[in-house]
Amino acid sequence: MRYPRELIEEIRMQNDIVAVISQYVPLKQKGSSYFGLCPFHHEKTPSFSVNSEKQFYYCFGCGASGNVYGFLMEMENMSFPEAVQELAQRANISLPEPDQSAQTLAAERLKSRLMEIHKIAGRFYYDCLQSDAGTYARSYMQKRQMLPNVARKFGIGYAPDNRHALYDHLLQQNYSIEDMVQSGLVIPDKSGNGYHDRFRGRLMFPIFDVQSRVIAFGGRILDSGEPKYLNSPETPIFSKSRNLYGLHLAKATRSKELILVEGYMDMFSLYQAGFHNVVASLGTAFNQEHARTLKKYADSVILLYDSDDAGTNAALRAIDVLVQNGLRVRVTQVPDGKDPDEFIKQNGAKAFSKLLVDAVHYISFQIACIQRKYDNHIPEHRVRFATEAAAVLSKLESDIERNVYTTEVSRMTGVAENALQSEIKKQRQKEDASFQKEAEQRRMRLQRQYGQTEEAEKGVLDAQKTLLYFSANHKYIYQALKQVLSKEDFPTPVYADAFDAIATLWEEEDHVFVAQLISFFEDAPSQRRVTEIFTTRALDDETYDLSKGINEAVVLLKRTNIDRKIAHSTTAEEIQAWLEEKRKLEALHITI
Ligand code: GTP
Ligand code: MN
Repeated sequence: MRYPRELIEEIRMQNDIVAVISQYVPLKQKGSSYFGLCPFHHEKTPSFSVNSEKQFYYCFGCGASGNVYGFLMEMENMSFPEAVQELAQRANISLPEPDQSAQTLAAERLKSRLMEIHKIAGRFYYDCLQSDAGTYARSYMQKRQMLPNVARKFGIGYAPDNRHALYDHLLQQNYSIEDMVQSGLVIPDKSGNGYHDRFRGRLMFPIFDVQSRVIAFGGRILDSGEPKYLNSPETPIFSKSRNLYGLHLAKATRSKELILVEGYMDMFSLYQAGFHNVVASLGTAFNQEHARTLKKYADSVILLYDSDDAGTNAALRAIDVLVQNGLRVRVTQVPDGKDPDEFIKQNGAKAFSKLLVDAVHYISFQIACIQRKYDNHIPEHRVRFATEAAAVLSKLESDIERNVYTTEVSRMTGVAENALQSEIKKQRQKEDASFQKEAEQRRMRLQRQYGQTEEAEKGVLDAQKTLLYFSANHKYIYQALKQVLSKEDFPTPVYADAFDAIATLWEEEDHVFVAQLISFFEDAPSQRRVTEIFTTRALDDETYDLSKGINEAVVLLKRTNIDRKIAHSTTAEEIQAWLEEKRKLEALHITI
C-alpha cells in the first residue's frame, strides 16, 4: 500500500459514502440504507443501495460493490491512489508524496515528455501557419471564413508539406526519436531507415484536454484528398474514445447544457458565431466514456448531427448512450442535408439559434425517424409504425411523458390510444424480464471469471465467505479460527488476503470496519468481491446454526486443500501422510 493504512482510513471516515455517492446518483433513504438507480448498469427500478451504517454500496442488479474509494474508482475511472487523493482533498487532509514504483514514475515522466512534445508541435504548426509556408493555408481559412482571432483561440496551425519539418524541429530541441514516435507525430519510414512526419500539408486542429493541454491533433487536408481528416493515433496521453473536441472551451462556459456536433469545423463555426457550449466527438461513434465525460459537466445535451442518413443513425445511437447515462437529450437537425458549419455560414447566428430553440425531445426524434420508414396510407405500415413506436415509448420512465407521447403517436397513426398502451405495457414487461436475465448472466459471468479450478465448487467459495464474514464480525470467532486456520487454507487469493487483513485489523486495531477492510484492496474487482462477503449473506438470523456452519466450512476448506496436495504429491509416502491428515479432520471440532 502506498499511503499508510491509518491515513487511508482517516480519509475514508471523513468522507461519508452517502454524501459522496449522492453527488452522482440521487438517493432515497429507506432505513439505514439509501437506494437509487445504479450508475453502473442500465436499469429502471432502483437496485443500487448504499449502506450508511457500514459505509459501502451494493447493487442487487449487477453486483457492483465497494466502499467510497471503490465507488470513485469505478465511477471516475480512477486508480486507488487517485481516489485517495480526491477524497483527501474533499476532506482537506494533506497527503505525503506517495512512494511511486519505478514503473509508474517512468510512465508519468513519459507522459509529461509527450505533453511537452505536443506543446512544441502546436507552437510549431501555429508559427508555420503565420509564415510564408502557410500562405495557401491562410487563404483556405479565409475561404472557409475562419476568423483569425478565433483560429488563434483554437490554436489552429499548419503542417508544412515537407516530410521532415516537425521531425527536424524536435530533433533540434533534443527530443529523442523514441519519444517522437511515441507521440504519434513522427512515424518510422517503411524502409526502416528514417522517419517522417505524420501530418503534412494539413490545417492543424490541436486537441486539448480539459486542462487546456495539447494532447493530440486532427489535420484537415487543404482542398481535396484522402483522408479528409487525419487524427493522432491512440497514445499514452490521448484516447479518442475518452476525449471530446472543444470540451476545454465548453467547460469554461459553465453551461449545464452542451451542444454535441460531429465535426471539428462544426465546432469551430458554432464557436465563432457565439455558441461556446459546443463539443464535437472526433469522428468516432459517441460512446459510454464520452457520455460519462459529458455528465461531469452537463446535465443536458442538444444533439446536432448531420441530417444525412449516416448522421441520423449516429444520432440515434448517441441518444441511447446519453439517455443511459442520465443526460437529458434534445435533438435538432439542419435542413437540406447541410451540416451546422454550412448552415450557420449561409443563414447566420440568429437562424441557427432558432434551430436550437426548436430542438425536440429525443423521443419525438426517434418517433419521427420510425415514421419516415413507413407510408401512413397503408394499414400494414401503420401497424408496424405503432408497434415500433410503442417499443420506444416503453423505455420512458415518466408516466406523464409516456402519456403525452402515446397520445401523439395515436394521433399520427390512427391507432387507438388504449391499444398502444397495452402494447407498451407488454414491451415493458418483456424488457424487465430481459433485464433480469441479463443481470443473472452477468452474475454468472463474474463467477466464471473468478472461478478457477480449485474453487469451481460453489461450496468452497461459500465456505470461505462464511468464515470471513463471521471472523470480521466477531472477535471471539476470529480467535477460535486462528487456532486452526491460516491464510493458506483459503484457495481463493483475494479471500486469503482478506483473512490476513482481518487478522491485522483485530490484532492491531481491535475492530474490523468492513469499509476499512475493503480499502486493503486496491483494484475494483477485489474490492467488489470483499464487499460481497458482507452483502450477499443473511446468516445472522436465529435459525442459523453457527457452530455447525463454521465447523463444516473449516473442514471443507481443509479437506479441499489436502485433496489438492494429494493430487500434487509425487511419492506414496507423501500421499500416506496427507491421508493421515485428512483422517484427523474427522476429529476436528471448534468450539464457538
Ligand atoms: P469539412 O468538410 O471540413 O467541413 O468537415 P466536416 O466536419 O463537414 O466533415 P464530415 O462531416 O465529413 O466529418 C465529420 C467528422 O468526421 C470530422 O470532423 C472528422 O472528425 C471525421 N472525419 C471526416 N473525414 C474523416 C476521415 O477521412 N478520416 C477520419 N479519421 N476522420 C474523418
Ligand atoms: Mn462541413
